[in-house]
Amino acid sequence: MLPSLVALTMQDLLAGGLFSLAALEDAAPVALQVPATSSGWKAWNRFRTLCDHHVRLCCALELTVDKTSEKELERWLAEPVRCVILSPSTFLLNRSGYPVLPKKAKALLEQLFRRQVQVIIAEPQSVEQNEGLLPRLSYIARLFQALPPLSQAERFAYSHMDTLQAPLQPLADNLESETYELFETDPVKYAKYQEAVFIFLTERKQEGRPMPFCVMVLGAGRGPLVEAALKAAERAEVEVDLYAVEKNPNAVQALRHRKRRDGWSSVQVVPGDMRSWDAPKKADVIISELLGSFGDNELSPECLDGAC
Ligand SMILES: C[S@@+](CC[C@H](N)C(=O)[O-])C[C@H]1O[C@@H](n2cnc3c(N)ncnc32)[C@H](O)[C@@H]1O
Ligand SMILES: *[C@@H]1O[C@H](CO)[C@@H](O)[C@H](O)[C@H]1NC(C)=O
Repeated sequence: MLPSLVALTMQDLLAGGLFSLAALEDAAPVALQVPATSSGWKAWNRFRTLCDHHVRLCCALELTVDKTSEKELERWLAEPVRCVILSPSTFLLNRSGYPVLPKKAKALLEQLFRRQVQVIIAEPQSVEQNEGLLPRLSYIARLFQALPPLSQAERFAYSHMDTLQAPLQPLADNLESETYELFETDPVKYAKYQEAVFIFLTERKQEGRPMPFCVMVLGAGRGPLVEAALKAAERAEVEVDLYAVEKNPNAVQALRHRKRRDGWSSVQVVPGDMRSWDAPKKADVIISELLGSFGDNELSPECLDGAC
């Protein structure tokens, strides 16, 4: 039977150089046992570089943290930590004489719990220390059970944590309705857009500019930014003419549906590409959300440059 994990210690490596990359070709992950200190991270980093960042290589972290800064400890959250090793000496006794983890170690372990690590409570070196095994075990169990529930955003992202994804290309491809639905679960974005548009419209009004103000939402999708802009106009008590430009024919259907259903009488849905759209007048404000998740994957400057 294959072991579920092959553990290597730094001593193994220093002693014999017995490790060969072939070990990584077996099915089991190989964990390098390292202390969570600064020098531990450097050793780990050198080793995994030598192993060419092999996906099966992971670390078994000894939680000895006393002099390591919090910033340095945070680095481990970006590493493939599979196990956390707690030796008796990692624990302190609290005022009632129970074993507890020092603050920094506790904080790191709580975050690592979210990454589904296995905890190894290391065997004590002496009989006296053995007494504390059960209290140590139940302390760690209680720590795990007392983790706060995931927030809505964390729950949403949980299955994608640390997973590389191909960036979307909304210009080249037409996005699916469910992708728009995902965008629309963002609890922050649309509120911030609404606030920004509200401030803009309020200032225009105070300057005494003639209404209605011309608002253009470029790349409107299924319309959440249109809704945000309309709400902002209502709050600012201004009249607007709103153009919702969208090149995805499926999203255009959704926009037309919303215009009817929600009585968006000041909204004109414009099917087509913003780069070639011949706008009937100049806009007071252009609203877009084409930033994408990685660099320029939505070609925002290219599209907006055309629109301008
Ligand atoms: C990231 S989505 C944002 C959609 C919507 N504003 C939202 O917040 O859910 C970008 C949208 O811009 C549209 N788009 C991208 N390039 C465009 C272009 N050149 N002309 C018109 N629409 C474009 C895409 O089809 C997509 O619907
Ligand atoms: C010490 O730890 C025990 C077990 O974790 C806990 O029940 C107790 O309240 C703690 N005492 C103090 C003074 O923090």
